[in-house]
Amino acid sequence: MNDFKERIAAELLAVRDRSLAYTAAEDDLLVRQHSPLMSPLVWDLAHVGNYEELWVLREAAGIEPLRPEIDDIYDAFKHPRKDRPTLPLLGPAEARRYIEGVRGRVLDVLDAIDLDGPTPLHRDGFVFGLVIQHEHQHDETMLATLQLSGQPGLVRDADLPPGRGQGPEEVYVPAGPFTMGTATLPWAYDNERPAHQVDLPGYWIDRLPVGNRAYAAFIEDGGYDDPRWWAPEGWQWRRRSGTGAPLFWAKDGDTWWRTRFGRTEPVPMDEPVQHVSWYEADAYARWAGKRLPTEAEWEKACGWDPEARRARRYPWGEEDPRPGVANLGHRAARPAPLGAYPAGASAYGAEQMVGDVWEWTDSWFQPYPGFRSFPYKEYSEVFFGHEYRVLRGGSWAADPAAVRTTFRNWDYPIRRQIFTGFRCARTELV
Ligand code: AVJ
Ligand code: FE
Repeated sequence: MNDFKERIAAELLAVRDRSLAYTAAEDDLLVRQHSPLMSPLVWDLAHVGNYEELWVLREAAGIEPLRPEIDDIYDAFKHPRKDRPTLPLLGPAEARRYIEGVRGRVLDVLDAIDLDGPTPLHRDGFVFGLVIQHEHQHDETMLATLQLSGQPGLVRDADLPPGRGQGPEEVYVPAGPFTMGTATLPWAYDNERPAHQVDLPGYWIDRLPVGNRAYAAFIEDGGYDDPRWWAPEGWQWRRRSGTGAPLFWAKDGDTWWRTRFGRTEPVPMDEPVQHVSWYEADAYARWAGKRLPTEAEWEKACGWDPEARRARRYPWGEEDPRPGVANLGHRAARPAPLGAYPAGASAYGAEQMVGDVWEWTDSWFQPYPGFRSFPYKEYSEVFFGHEYRVLRGGSWAADPAAVRTTFRNWDYPIRRQIFTGFRCARTELV
């Protein structure tokens, strides 16, 4: 195998290690449903193997289905998450055997295949990028399931850099055009293309994500009880749900506590807030006299290099993420303290845009002008519209292979079990 193939093989191995680590618990934990919002873990496990079989073995290599009778069970569009525990799922041991069988054949295909042709699925190893990113996305989903389950053992307190108190609250992004999306990144998804020019007026964006201290001040100020701050649907959601704090928070006397993978600890006030819905983020921003950034504002502040007049792959440049610039890949099971990554700043001085927490934006998940679905409509296209809000940047649980300036994630505005926070923006005052 050449170097590129070796790298793909290493990425396949790494993501599988991760999936197996999250599904190493006793069978009962894997087959149970911990929340109607989430699949049983054993569904995710076999689903990633089934997806890999479908795309690498069948579509890219023309190999006959190994177990056609299970396709229906692992088709995410046939059965909503809440119904998945009632399906005749493969048990944990059988699921592991199945995905291992798929993987063995996939490595044979990788060895033999021409990564430059004959189709766009093969070119630059796209299909391998597709399954590697897919499995990492499910791994992050499994972590959210595990967090909901209260299962301990997932806290990994790798040393995160300390936070920094000093620095401006906001950075300014002057008016002007930038290139949104990508024409060149070979493993980018269809929804990140085509690259196109967007001309924005000048705006301010927070240098850092909103922290727990600031968010607690919003709560103490009665932010959850004042409809002035809330979008109409957000206010309805807030009343019906009875929500008064981020998910997994609880107050005891004067102290806020949070529970993280079965461990209860005082809320670290200098960490980005996480587990808030889009509605909460939107209300906070109004309370603070600001608003959420649009997706375009987020991407320009993150990746545009105004001097070179080109987009960077990451805020700091082209180099792959390393522990000194961003908190990714579940090295710790928490966002890093605010200001921990000055070396990871963008050209405009925005920090922690990649890693730590996904960031809600004001934008609906919509196609870019000239969008063409590839390789299938059900990754992006069927979700476009006015139902899902765009999330950017990636959380501490996202893997470097599945994060970049142009990467777009999306979810319903009520969702809070994902590792999500936000930062605010405001239009230039003249
Ligand atoms: C891009 C994270 C919204 O998990 O629903 C997984 C990714 N697509 N399997 C999701 C995905 C198909 C997707 N998100
Ligand atoms: Fe999937």
